[in-house]
Amino acid sequence: MFHAPIVPRVRKRSRAAEVRVPGREEVKFEDVRLFLVERKMGRSRRSFLTQLARSKGFIVEDLLSDVVTHVVSEDIHASSLWTWLKECDLKNLSNMLVLDISWFTDSMREGRPVPVESTHLIQDALPEGSTPPEGSTPTAEATVSQYACQRRTTTENKNKTFTDAFEVLAESYEMNEIEGPCLAFRRAASVLKSLPWAVQSLGATQDLPCLGESTKAVMKEMLQYGHSFEVEKMLSDERYQTLKLFTSVFGVGPKTADKWYRRGLRSFSDVLADSSIQLNRMQQSGFLHYGDISRAVSKAEARALRNIIDEAVHAITPDAVLALTGGFRRGKEFGHDVDFIVTTPELGKETSLIPRIINRLTKQGILLFTDYQASTFDMSRLPCLRFEAMDHFAKCFLILRLEGSQVEGGLHIAEGDSRGWRAVRVDLVSPPMDRYAFALLGWTGSRQFERDLRRYARMERRMLLDNHALYDKTKKQFLAATTERDIFAHLGLEYIEPWQRNA
Ligand code: CTP
Ligand code: MN
Ligand code: MN
Repeated sequence: MFHAPIVPRVRKRSRAAEVRVPGREEVKFEDVRLFLVERKMGRSRRSFLTQLARSKGFIVEDLLSDVVTHVVSEDIHASSLWTWLKECDLKNLSNMLVLDISWFTDSMREGRPVPVESTHLIQDALPEGSTPPEGSTPTAEATVSQYACQRRTTTENKNKTFTDAFEVLAESYEMNEIEGPCLAFRRAASVLKSLPWAVQSLGATQDLPCLGESTKAVMKEMLQYGHSFEVEKMLSDERYQTLKLFTSVFGVGPKTADKWYRRGLRSFSDVLADSSIQLNRMQQSGFLHYGDISRAVSKAEARALRNIIDEAVHAITPDAVLALTGGFRRGKEFGHDVDFIVTTPELGKETSLIPRIINRLTKQGILLFTDYQASTFDMSRLPCLRFEAMDHFAKCFLILRLEGSQVEGGLHIAEGDSRGWRAVRVDLVSPPMDRYAFALLGWTGSRQFERDLRRYARMERRMLLDNHALYDKTKKQFLAATTERDIFAHLGLEYIEPWQRNA
């Protein structure tokens, strides 16, 4: 399956709760306690679905109480459902998953609780403390944190026009290596992405963190004229356009792009015709497969690749551990690549895993490109102070050939493309098992979420976090973790689910 199953924390169960479980059916999923909301569903359908679920080994509670882990509703009006839920006087509501009926039907079909994806969630449009957007202008709650790791950000972005504009400006500053304003626009975009409402006036943003003078000036223009002149100007800027084009090639970073630009090159044909340019192996593959790898990878394609990698790792070691990470773990519909963690329970055995996977994919004839980097991991080093430093685990950046026949619903390719396959970028990283939680947290992203986790650790907790470890500077010791939850707990942060990390 796609995501790691979301298993809610095991709660101590009261005796009363046990009694409600009918004795005849065998309980298969102890940690999942369903409650079906009768509103919209109706009594008879509710009772039918209850029987169905129980016959498949699910626990279905008749009453809504704090033992419930999954609330399932057919009510598509999130606001009235949430209003009702909040009136139910629950202590545990913030830990419950409030799900659309599609999660339930998927689970019945599969005969087990399927992993919760962002599309299943019925989101509370008005989290505690926020002002209702109906009628009056929404104002931001004072509680929006300046740290992305204290905000819940799904893939649903209500302020996309603003955040796209900020991203253009952030990128242009990045290209010119002007760090401060770049970060400011990124942080502002990230705050707006987390809002459950669309900003319709500047007044509504007055209590939001990370919105400075220049970001507000851009927003003001956009609210007034429908677009920002500064952004329009940048989008039509020749240097911006050219650097965007060049860095869209796999293996071409900002430095190379700038070098080419300064030489007067403006298009791919300029670059390819320049005999003084020596493309490295990665760039050669980048140009060769440009059409395919500049095209987004779909969820179905990611699933197909997961099957391919899964088959390969398990043929190599039956007890191998494989996890999807990156944007797809965050519930994104499309990505620029597919990211996986592969490892083995036995420490040290993971070092040979990636070379053996590469070997196998080569034999299958589906490996179009590989850049393998052996591990340089050394536990005696402190977590690195630089936010964006590469980690030291063994990893590889691949281009694989994906056959259309392996993808449910077919390939995500241009109409009229009849090759029947496409090239896709895949990243594999292979941490030792005792570093698994750190690697998973680090590779799940988003980049902004990771930056703020590290910043929060440093500024608020005097701790250093990176993809390998968490170090407490006060206690002068490393803090162990086997799950992501352990790391959030060490940091004193509420747990944020992967699909809420799209900061
Ligand atoms: N990452 C990392 N070290 C690397 C490469 C990536 O820690 N050498 C982390 C990044 O910080 C990011 C995550 O891995 O959070 C995934 O990276 P990437 O695939 O570039 O981004 P996604 O969030 O998956 O976005 P996309 O869907 O565009 O691939
Ligand atoms: Mn990715
Ligand atoms: Mn990646």
